[in-house]
This record gives sequence, C-alpha cells and structure tokens, in this order.
Amino acid sequence: MRVRYLFKSFQAALGCTTRGLSVNGFLFPGNHVIIQRSSLGDAAAQNAMPTKTVRDMVDKFTCMVGASSTYSAATVDRTELLKLLPKSQDELPTRTMSDSWDSAVIPLSTNKCLREKYITFNEGVRIGRLLEDLDVFSAWLCYRHVHNPRQAEHPDLPSPYIIVTGMMDRMDFCKGVKLDPNHDIRISGHVSWTGTSSIETIVHVDQLQDGAWKKVTTAVFVFVARDPLNQGAAIINKLVPNTEEEKKIFEQGVLNKLSRKIVKEESLFKQPPNETEKNLVHELFLSMSNPKQHEFAPKRKPQGSRWISETKIKNIIMCHPEHRNRFGKVFGGFIMRKAIELAWTSALVHSGQRCTISHIDDVVFTRPVEVGSLLYLNAQVVYTDGEHMQVSTKASMMDPVTQTLSLTNIFHFTFAADSAVPPVLPCTYHEAMMYLDGRRHYQLVTGERRYYGQQESNEDRHD
Ligand SMILES: CC(C)(COP(=O)(O)OP(=O)(O)OC[C@H]1O[C@@H](n2cnc3c(N)ncnc32)[C@H](O)[C@@H]1OP(=O)(O)O)[C@@H](O)C(=O)NCCC(=O)NCCS
Repeated sequence: MRVRYLFKSFQAALGCTTRGLSVNGFLFPGNHVIIQRSSLGDAAAQNAMPTKTVRDMVDKFTCMVGASSTYSAATVDRTELLKLLPKSQDELPTRTMSDSWDSAVIPLSTNKCLREKYITFNEGVRIGRLLEDLDVFSAWLCYRHVHNPRQAEHPDLPSPYIIVTGMMDRMDFCKGVKLDPNHDIRISGHVSWTGTSSIETIVHVDQLQDGAWKKVTTAVFVFVARDPLNQGAAIINKLVPNTEEEKKIFEQGVLNKLSRKIVKEESLFKQPPNETEKNLVHELFLSMSNPKQHEFAPKRKPQGSRWISETKIKNIIMCHPEHRNRFGKVFGGFIMRKAIELAWTSALVHSGQRCTISHIDDVVFTRPVEVGSLLYLNAQVVYTDGEHMQVSTKASMMDPVTQTLSLTNIFHFTFAADSAVPPVLPCTYHEAMMYLDGRRHYQLVTGERRYYGQQESNEDRHD
C-alpha cells in the first residue's frame, strides 16, 4: 500500500491522470508511458537512415567488453578488472540521454541472407528475431551510457561491467502495422532512467515503408550492471535529464520502477484475489458445477471452451555455445525468441488462427541460464477475451538427472486473432489464479485497469 501511495503522490506531482501521463507523444495505457519521439540530439539525424547495421553494432560491442568470438569452456579470469570499478556514484560523471542515444538498421532490403533469417512463412517478419536485436541493442545503449574515468587510465583493458537484461518491462505493437521482410528496419533509443546499478532503456522500432519511417513498436527494458565476476551489483553513472521533455521521460522511469514494485507486492503469490476476482472465480465455479446434485467437480464445461491445461504446449532446448552472450551465459534475446515462438504456436493451436502479437509485458530474468543447460519452456493460454488471448510462458532450467526445474523467466504475451477464439476456463484453484493473473496482465496492457493487483478499475476506488 505504501508503494501504491508513493506512486500516486508522484503521479499527482507530475500532473498525471489516473489513465496515465500524456507528454508530447505516446500514451501507453495502464501505468507505463513511453514518449514516442524525443528531440534528443539532432532531430534530422534521428530521422535519417542509421549509418551502422545491427551487425556493426554487435561487433563494436563485442570488442568493447573484450569478449572472444570463439567459444572455450574455460572461464576467462576477469579479476583484474575489479580495480576499474568505482566505489560510489560520485566518482562517475553524470550522463545525459543524448550520450546514449543511438540507432542501427536491419538491412533487409539489401541483405538477402539476413532476409531469410527474418522472414515468416507468410512473408511477415519474425518478431522473435526482432526481440533478439532489441535486447542486444538496448544492452549496447547501456554501455554507451556508462562513462568511467578509471577506464581511461587503462585503455588496454575492456569494460569491467557485465550488463545483463533484468527485464523487458513493456512492448506494445502498433495496431494494423505489418512488418515487411523486404524493407529496412530501424532501431533507435536511449537510456531513459537510472538507479544505482539498474538502467532503463527505451527503444523504438520503425520500418521504411513508402519512403517514410513508419512506427512499429516501442519497448522498455531494464538492465542491471554487475561487477566483472558477476558476483554483485556495479555502480553506474547517474542520468541527468536536461530538457523538459527529458525530465518527463525520466520521471516516467521513476513511476515505472514504483509500478514494478506494486506488481511484486500485489502478486497472487503474496495476496489473495480482490473481491471482484473472488466473485468471478465463484461465478465460474457455479457455472461449471452442478449445485442441485452438490457436485463440486467441474462437470459442465461450456460448449466450445477449453480448460487452461488443455492449451499447454512444451519444448525442451539444449543451449549450445552459439546461443551465448558476450559473457558466456545464454543470450536473453534467444530465450525471448524461443518463448514468443512457442507462445505464438500455442495461440495458433488454441484458436486455429494465425495471430498477431499486440503486447508483451513484465518479462523478468530471474537467473542466468548456463550454456549446456536444458531450457524447458511451457506455454498456455490463460485468459481470453473475444479475439484476444493472454499466453503465459515459463522458462526453466531443467536438471537432466533429477528433472527438477529452476525458473528463469515468465513471459506475458497478448495475441490477437481475426475472430473470436474459444474461451479458456480454469479447472482447479491453481488454474483460477493463472486465469486471474492473465486477466490482470491483459487488462493492464489494454488500459482496462490502472494497477496490476488489488484494484479493479482505473478509478481510485479502494485506496
Ligand atoms: C538481474 C539480476 C542480476 C538481479 O540480481 P539481484 O541479486 O536481484 O540484484 P540486486 O538485488 O543486487 O539489485 C541490483 C539492482 O537491480 C535491480 N533489479 C534487480 N532485478 C531486477 C529486475 N528483474 N528488473 C528490474 N530491476 C531489477 C534492483 O532494483 C537494483 O537496482 P539499483 O541498484 O538501481 O537500486 C539477477 O536476477 C540475474 O542475474 N538475472 C538473470 C540475468 C540474465 O541472465 N539475463 C539474460 C542474459 S543477459
């Protein structure tokens, strides 16, 4: 409740409505707002075709962090780099949003081999591939943000920072925009907020269609800086907003952090469902049982509907060295690609229709995945609304001997089909909680609710 209070006070100070903040641009429904276009740096340069490709950016990045391009199972000793780490944030110069701003192109129009990797069977673009690029591009922005005077004293040494994906906070796709595999895609963005070791980035994706850049999606990531041995947090430079617009972006970053705390605090694993949710679960129970016979078991599944468990599909992937990131762990973008492709398949199998992704939210990377691990993924449709499906995908590392699972990520995807899909229903209390969690995520991303947890509507009823 305290976090919620803080959130609301901050929001009030910013002059936000309960539906969010609308600043010179794009208003996300729900808690999260992303400024669509900022006037950072040179606006003309921002609108131009980027001068480097994503591949060029990855090569620079690899060089900057001193990663080897060939795999070896032996771990590199990075202890020497510890001396480069600052002891406090005051040792580091402050940075601006323009310092990290950058853009890169995915040259689909000219690179035929690349096009083959991105194209879908029906001549769309594989969103999983795009997620990989967004992840690595956002990490690159974080490295551009960090400026460490101690590094200048040791130009021969690579960056001491290991910057890992902590979460993909939010990604919303523009309605009706279909990516074309024959045209170039531009990724651009900057650091939008910083804590002590955490860094939020905003990344925009546009495609060159009919001679103009058309907005496709915007995503918000949070990265966490770690020491060279990946044993603890590492301090990064403070971000200082300069213009009024930058201040709004930064303040939104503060709100995003508070709203992430609300999601944690109000999780169904910590608190029971709210009153509306309890009633909803009870109504579902009554509609599917036989009260006259005192039959508690769910006997009467409405025609055309499915139990949540019936929608589950699974995949186990061996994580090979080719899937590693620059620090020898499995690349977060690869896990995201595998997760979205499985989720899309579960939406396809459930609905019988080829669906489009409309939102991704609250994707937390709880622990690193080691190369050589078995990555176990399962996806299921947990909530439906007309033609929309909320798909929850879990990724875990599986111990091949004991087959025990250690959770690494949970993904929340919202897909849209062309026509109404079969409703899904919970059969057990556990599934009812999945259903409510799916409903909360769905209502958040579609703007039907303001807060993740205890509050049902956008109005401030219960506080
Ligand atoms: C992200 C990770 C390092 C966080 O570890 P942790 O022990 O919880 O971190 P700490 O408690 O020391 O917190 C450090 C900072 O990260 C922030 N943080 C931690 N987890 C976070 C998350 N999931 N999302 C956003 N911020 C997060 C904290 O708020 C804190 O910020 P601050 O220093 O600015 O105040 C850890 O969960 C991890 O290794 N996850 C896997 C990362 C990964 O493999 N990604 C894919 C490959 S790059």
